[in-house]
Amino acid sequence: MESTRAKLIDVLSSNPDQYISGQLLSEKLNISRPAVWKHMKELEKDGYEVEAVPRKGYRIVSYPDKLSTNTLQWGLDTDWLGQNVIHKPSVSSTQILAHQQAQEDAPHGTVIVADEQTKGRGRLNRTWHSQKGDGIWMSIILRPTFEPHRSPQITLLAATVLAEVFKRHCGIKPQIKWPNDLLTDGKKLAGILTELQAEQDQITYIVLGMGINVNHDRDVFPEDIQNQATSIKQETGESWAIGALIQDILQTFEKRYEEFIEEGFSKVKLRWEAFGYRLGEIVDIKTHQRSWSARILGIEHDGALKVCDEDGQVDILYSAEIQW
Ligand code: BTN
Repeated sequence: MESTRAKLIDVLSSNPDQYISGQLLSEKLNISRPAVWKHMKELEKDGYEVEAVPRKGYRIVSYPDKLSTNTLQWGLDTDWLGQNVIHKPSVSSTQILAHQQAQEDAPHGTVIVADEQTKGRGRLNRTWHSQKGDGIWMSIILRPTFEPHRSPQITLLAATVLAEVFKRHCGIKPQIKWPNDLLTDGKKLAGILTELQAEQDQITYIVLGMGINVNHDRDVFPEDIQNQATSIKQETGESWAIGALIQDILQTFEKRYEEFIEEGFSKVKLRWEAFGYRLGEIVDIKTHQRSWSARILGIEHDGALKVCDEDGQVDILYSAEIQW
């Protein structure tokens, strides 16, 4: 975060109880006093509460709740993920915007976040309810050099990252329903949508979408999904700061992604198994070809689902749906 504005927030925030004079700020940032004042007005527009006391200087009193590129990047401790953030109050789908940005050469690690999606989409062409301000609707552009057939592993990696963050940050232990659902008590808390653009055996880019129900009250969900969906607020009884949660997800994802690139899928597999939904239990499974009951044995070294039916027939599945 290199902009003057970012440096300004940095200086003010590192001395939260002190007033910093306009003169000192102008020297530190190498800008004029009127420019300092202009930046303060911009911060206020973004929801920062700034106190200005004559002959003492400026102090940030409170940080905005509302998301912006700036609030998302401020304090974000990553090397590459989220160094380019695009925040929009409303979009049709962050996936669509991410594809457009990727085609216009947006760098690896670009993050697109929206307060609201009017046409949020889920797996299998389902719609994804994306209420304004209540959840995290985010897409990440990745440009890995591994082969396209490994891209589904990114979904499982992302699921383990969300599970880890929900547990550490919010104190809930979700379960991961293969391949992309995060559940608590059988209700959906978050979903992941991984979309791939590739040529022959090379990935051009991946758009990794995450939809997380954060501060939804039950009646905010459309009636037909009220019994299937939940939110972090419903599970914990409290509201959560969305910006801080996004930052934790990005920081954790960067760490785990690098581990995955360097060491392969083995650690993701272990983490996945710690959160696996109905592992060892008999569930109903559906693929394009058939529906049947089978016991979930776990995931393979490449992320495929391993199941065993009542006749002892073991199947390794790359595309399937575990029924609720
Ligand atoms: C699923 O469970 O089917 C996946 C849901 C993915 C939803 C997210 S929200 C951010 C991104 N933009 C979208 O339109 N979809 C994904």
